[in-house]
Amino acid sequence: MSLLRIEDVRKYFPIKEGLFVRREIARVHAVDGVSLEVNPGETLGVVGESGCGKSTLARCVTGLHPVTSGRIVFDGQDVTRLSGRGLKAFRRDVQMIFQDPYGSLNPRRRVGSIIADPLVVHRIGDARARRRRVQELMELVGLNPEHYNRFPAEFSGGQRQRIGIARALALKPRLIVCDEPVSALDVSIQAQVINLLTDLQGELGLTYVFIAHDLSVVRYVSDRVAVMYLGKVVEVAPGEQLYREPRHPYTYSLLSAASVADPDASAARSRVILAGDVPSPITPPPGCRFHPRCPKAQARCSTEEPLLLGVEHRAACHFPVEPGERLTGATRSGDRP
Ligand SMILES: Nc1ncnc2c1ncn2[C@@H]1O[C@H](COP(=O)(O)OP(=O)(O)O)[C@@H](O)[C@H]1O
Ligand SMILES: [Mg+2]
Repeated sequence: MSLLRIEDVRKYFPIKEGLFVRREIARVHAVDGVSLEVNPGETLGVVGESGCGKSTLARCVTGLHPVTSGRIVFDGQDVTRLSGRGLKAFRRDVQMIFQDPYGSLNPRRRVGSIIADPLVVHRIGDARARRRRVQELMELVGLNPEHYNRFPAEFSGGQRQRIGIARALALKPRLIVCDEPVSALDVSIQAQVINLLTDLQGELGLTYVFIAHDLSVVRYVSDRVAVMYLGKVVEVAPGEQLYREPRHPYTYSLLSAASVADPDASAARSRVILAGDVPSPITPPPGCRFHPRCPKAQARCSTEEPLLLGVEHRAACHFPVEPGERLTGATRSGDRP
């Protein structure tokens, strides 16, 4: 059974106008009908360009945002309807690691008390037991436990992200949603933090949802990868399959970008440069949301919304990329100056 099931989740943000009587004039369709499953012990990578709804989805899953519609089922329980004790238990089981290791730590508080926060909120242990637990956690994430009295500014970016990880682990969660945990870090530090997360997963039996804005970061940590575009999942597949044989033209174009380090595959793949910008989530295009930028789009794509079809490897596309097919976008590699 899956540990987490996201069922047709939508999250719309109202845009209001008027000084006294606030009327809703439009809505941001930040997450618009996402269904995904995450199995115990696995890592589901979630990838997509900035603004496609990754953080909003993360916040819905961890209960930080109420959903507009749909269900989030954790360990067999619909958590969108929880309150009281059930909600408290859920909040222990599911934690989040944020992108910004600077913004998410209060600079005026000592790291020991930051890491102990969840223990205090959930009233676990007395002061001495908490300090012991904090030092244990610091050790677990590779920080010197004697530094619990220091302030966040005394730590490097990578170490601050370790503080965030220690805090997320304090309550022994089962699922951790990592929202671009290494995007703000130097490339040289990214691998260390990713390795730490992978080691912790093995050691503690954790399940991860790992969000990133490009496919190269999630490649080595994800068992399966979901690709999002404008509030929707356009493709989901076991990692290796997705990288080897992308079916959705959007995934293909992301993979054809130079940053994905696989010389063999990217040499065989033509470089697709997408036309135009990502459309606004306030007025998403009808039919397939990707059709205005898609090199394979036909008339049907602008009227009929494609369903996410398939079993293990699913793609929402009327004209998926065939194995070995080379897409031509606005420009091909070699054509560029
Ligand atoms: N609290 C909010 N109020 C209004 N719009 C929001 C809010 N949070 C996010 N959005 C909008 O929802 C869309 C998705 O945002 P987000 O989930 O942060 O994307 P991502 O994490 O993929 O970059 C964006 O258009 C963003 O501007
Ligand atoms: Mg985000």
